[in-house]
Amino acid sequence: MPAFSDPSQQNPTGQTPLRIGVMASGNGSNFEALVQAIDAGTLAAEIRILVVNNPGCGAQLRAERLGVPCTVLDHRVLKERDQLDQALVNCFRSAAVEVVVMAGWMRIVTPVLINGYADRLVNIHPSLLPSFKGLDGIGQALAAGVKITGCSVHLVTAELDGGPILAQAAVPVDEGDDHATLSEKVHREEHRLLPEAINARIPIWRQG
Ligand code: GRF
Repeated sequence: MPAFSDPSQQNPTGQTPLRIGVMASGNGSNFEALVQAIDAGTLAAEIRILVVNNPGCGAQLRAERLGVPCTVLDHRVLKERDQLDQALVNCFRSAAVEVVVMAGWMRIVTPVLINGYADRLVNIHPSLLPSFKGLDGIGQALAAGVKITGCSVHLVTAELDGGPILAQAAVPVDEGDDHATLSEKVHREEHRLLPEAINARIPIWRQG
């Protein structure tokens, strides 16, 4: 079980843990990095629920292994974007989630979710925004021939990958890097940056 999964339990700093909901579509390594940061005591949070849209995806398997509750909301069943997002909001509200983290969510989100969790919806993107928004930030960086790329944690607004940036980390693009090697380097930074950025934001969320 992840640390602090019991809401009455306090983290080492004595704060009540932030109740997080996580959304993932694929491998889920960023989701697992959040669990590890909670277990390590560097993220004062508890993951109330993981929602995946692809049944059987890596994130779901990780949740089963880690003992995190997981719900599947399949976009092939909930076909309208609004319908899927309303189901997400309902799910997170039922789990008393305060902040939602999109950790590799590969669907465009609508105002239903964005306004439902205004200023409390966080995304991680594999580029130094505002460069290389949208799909395949790694491939876009390689194609552009930049020597430095990275990752960004930002709040989600109606503009795709355009909301206020909370934190960034730079990653050098080395001679001979390909999609796999660069992706691995970016992921390594993401796993550090995402929990750090969320933890740093907790006092502001607590105020508002
Ligand atoms: C990450 O690169 C993240 O920036 C992007 O999707 C990827 C998810 O990776 N939004 P993982 O599923 O957490 O391994």
